[in-house]
Amino acid sequence: MPPPSALETKLSSSLISRDERLIRRRLPDPNASITLSPPSSSSTTTSSSNERLRGASNERLIDFTSNDYLSLSTFPHLRKLFLQKLTDAPDILGSGGSRLLVNGRAHSAFETRLKEFFCGPTSPPSESTGSGSERTSGSGTFGRTATSNTSTTAPAALLFNSGFDANVGFFSCIPQPGDAIVYDEYIHASVHDGIRSSRVEKGLRRGFRHNDLGDLRRVLQELKGYRPHPPYHTGTGERAEGPFASGTSSIFVSVESLYSMDGTFSPLKSISDILEEMFPHGNAYLIVDEAHATGIYGPQGRGRVAELGLEGKVLARLHTFGKALAATGAVIITTELIRDYLLNYARSLIYTTSLSYANIIAADASFDLLMDGTTESLSNHLLNLSYHLVSTLLPHLESKKIPPRILSLPAHLLPSSSQSSHLLTTQQARVKAHPADTPPPSPIIPLLTSLPRPLSSYLLSKGMNARPITWPTVPKGKDRVRVCLHSGNTLEDVDTLVEGCVEWAVDVLRKEEAEENVEAKNRRGKRGANVDSEESPGQGISESVEVERGSRGLGERYVTLLLESKL
Ligand SMILES: Cc1ncc(COP(=O)(O)O)c(C=O)c1O
Repeated sequence: MPPPSALETKLSSSLISRDERLIRRRLPDPNASITLSPPSSSSTTTSSSNERLRGASNERLIDFTSNDYLSLSTFPHLRKLFLQKLTDAPDILGSGGSRLLVNGRAHSAFETRLKEFFCGPTSPPSESTGSGSERTSGSGTFGRTATSNTSTTAPAALLFNSGFDANVGFFSCIPQPGDAIVYDEYIHASVHDGIRSSRVEKGLRRGFRHNDLGDLRRVLQELKGYRPHPPYHTGTGERAEGPFASGTSSIFVSVESLYSMDGTFSPLKSISDILEEMFPHGNAYLIVDEAHATGIYGPQGRGRVAELGLEGKVLARLHTFGKALAATGAVIITTELIRDYLLNYARSLIYTTSLSYANIIAADASFDLLMDGTTESLSNHLLNLSYHLVSTLLPHLESKKIPPRILSLPAHLLPSSSQSSHLLTTQQARVKAHPADTPPPSPIIPLLTSLPRPLSSYLLSKGMNARPITWPTVPKGKDRVRVCLHSGNTLEDVDTLVEGCVEWAVDVLRKEEAEENVEAKNRRGKRGANVDSEESPGQGISESVEVERGSRGLGERYVTLLLESKL
């Protein structure tokens, strides 16, 4: 068995030290957890939530906004299943406290289920890293040795109350002093929060340009050559290798498999290859946030890592339940050692009440639908809608000569892009996606525009809800209306969206052109007046007033809509 990695040695020794000081945290035996007291009869109340629900559904807007990608939140079969499970479950309300205090049987059983789902024998086997280290095992594990207390090779699942908590928990405590964190510049806020509260020094927190493998290499190369001050020397007077090149410190590379603002996919396979090539000691670890890919991609919705067969090359994957799975909560799939360390040090896990039983039951019901194949047709339909939207909108934008500043699709969705698979059928795209790392269609389509609020308001006036996204959520100059598609959308819904977008863009273009014409006329008029003072000076001005009035009318409509919709 190969020796433990630097990271494993450091994490294990911290845990052993805690053992020795009798302060090591462990989950209580779920079978021995206390039963919660039933509420007194006076505490039961009626609620007005039905009223609120009715109010919301009355609006009947076509949803192009929520993250309910598979439309499971309104899927009658899931609702029935959930209610049945609720009826059958021994505990449904609350959870009684932190996992460290009350480790509910349902929580523990669900973790076992998730571990088997994401790492079980049905996962595609992964190849060896070929780097001399043994980071890979067939069932999607990651690690090399077993310590006296914790098997580092065994896969493990750990529930968090949310994906946010999970990212904060992981990044705030797993990277050790002297380690580095490298992240895609578009990484989620929760990762930034985790990094901010980590013990990684500021100079070793490095971003790279979004999905730019060249820039990633540049950052990694800098870290490879990094030497802390004062530089250490070998006994012969030569300068020793730095801690990242020698493998004594670790690098954590944080990416999302599908980015929520742009709908771009991380080139996971290429990143994993680069890490292995540049850090043959195996001390560069890939961490993948699958929040937007869970339930949609990979076998039975296991995500992009599983779709690409990279389970053995990823130290930790985050799957959230709040998006395609219509529940709340999240799970980190990782090793036993990392799980144990998180249980001991992740404050966002330790100091919070764990998910309620009802939450666990809801998420568990959604996993039933993933496992029995129900969601496969939903996800196929979803990706077909994506294909339909892009392939319908693009020719309209082209034929109507809409300038990109008014409305355009991002480069990765254009046919010229090597990344674009939106002009392939879902089936072709799925086949193409594996194993070449070419991304499949995505349910997130950004409509780039310098007028995101007017476009969103116009769509709202036509019964569609697609939200404007502006700086600081996205970089300056990258404003957009972000369209999120859902399995519950129909082809007709998408056609209505395309129609609305094109109508709006043509309208804006016409008004711009009319204004330009008036300005040009005015300029000509002024020049003419200088040459021939007898020509009437009024005409251009009155036309300009006409157009201004027209455009103010349009602006007022948008403002009214903005106020009404509180955009
Ligand atoms: C990429 C990504 N990671 C993590 C999260 C947080 O997940 P949750 O909503 O479960 O807190 C989100 C949600 O917005 C996300 O988009």
